[in-house]
Amino acid sequence: MDFTKKMLRDDALKGKTIIVTGGGSGLGKAMTKYFMELGANVAITSRNIEKLQNTVKELEDETGGKCFAVQCDVRHYDQVEHMRDEVLKKFGTVDILLNNAAGNFISPTERLSANAFDTIIDIVLKGSKNCTMALGKHWIDEKQKDKTVLNIVTTYAWTGSAYVVPSATAKAGVLAMTRSLAVEWAKYGIRFNAIAPGPFPTKGAWDRLLPGDLKDKFDLAKKVPLKRLGQHQELANLAAYLVSDFSAYINGEVITIDGGEWLKGAGQFNLLEAIPEEMWDQLEAMIKSKKGS
Ligand code: HXC
Ligand code: NAP
Repeated sequence: MDFTKKMLRDDALKGKTIIVTGGGSGLGKAMTKYFMELGANVAITSRNIEKLQNTVKELEDETGGKCFAVQCDVRHYDQVEHMRDEVLKKFGTVDILLNNAAGNFISPTERLSANAFDTIIDIVLKGSKNCTMALGKHWIDEKQKDKTVLNIVTTYAWTGSAYVVPSATAKAGVLAMTRSLAVEWAKYGIRFNAIAPGPFPTKGAWDRLLPGDLKDKFDLAKKVPLKRLGQHQELANLAAYLVSDFSAYINGEVITIDGGEWLKGAGQFNLLEAIPEEMWDQLEAMIKSKKGS
């Protein structure tokens, strides 16, 4: 099966302007590329302007689409307002906000400084809040409708996870914000949805979550019932659908794309997968022999 096939028709996002936070690398870059292929103008934003400008050049050359880089640390509201205004100056309007920027690292929680915990909350939760408020207030003030916010969370936003507690705490907040505003701001014509990806290899995530030889010790694909990691285009296909008009009736939803990973961890008897066929014959015989006892 080819997991890298592109899903939507060519002009599916024609005329749309999209802001992608953290769009210079990893999954943000993959989604930006597909949005451009589908005809959208995309503004990418993060702290590292050189990285963003390289991405703009690479993606414009590859797709023939339009991309614009703006430096912005999403932790600071004044920088977010400035970024929004720069994008408005460049493209005239913004239709879609994709809150994708994130920070994360693995650590026992008791080893974290107060500042380390804050840093992750500030990037993930406060950053998503800052962008949502800056764009949301603008759309509401200007009485602009048919707008969409898509937030990238994780499956541990609802299960929680040891060793990434600041990230889990922040992503849970982003999920709560997604569902809350989906209801509250529907009257302004703004939709909110989220994607919870499972493991999709990127340099940013792998360097921080599987540093050194952890990559070899923990094969994340083994935790996935489908026995493989995600491909960037699969996520881009889902994101493009959720920001497009084709999903206009989907609001307040979180869609998991993880090959069944989190459910495998959750189901009480899922570890019985380790039992071979011959042992099932023996177990069945043992259980049946107890009938009536
Ligand atoms: C403990 C750490 C630490 C570590 C940093 N700190 N790294 N503490 N263990 N590994 C502490 C620092 O000592 C400091 O606290 C505080 O955190 C802030 O660190 P800075 O380096 O000053 O912060 P900054 O330069 O703002 O960088 C932010 C960052 C960095 C989050 C620490 O990693 C970053 O820029 N990340 C962006 C990209 C990223 O993380 N991508 C992965 C997303 S993956 P003190 O007290 O010393 O001042 C993801 C996937 C989820 O979310 C699910 C996957 C399956
Ligand atoms: P990534 O490449 O490290 O992406 C994170 C991006 O956020 C970077 O481009 C980074 O750019 C930007 N960023 C970090 N701090 C910022 C700040 N303060 N202001 C503005 N931008 C900032 O990692 P990724 O794997 O693609 O992650 C993308 C999203 O997917 C994240 O929301 C992550 O939680 C989510 N996710 C990923 C996985 C996975 O398996 N990869 C799984 C679940 C969820 P700068 O450094 O230039 O600022």
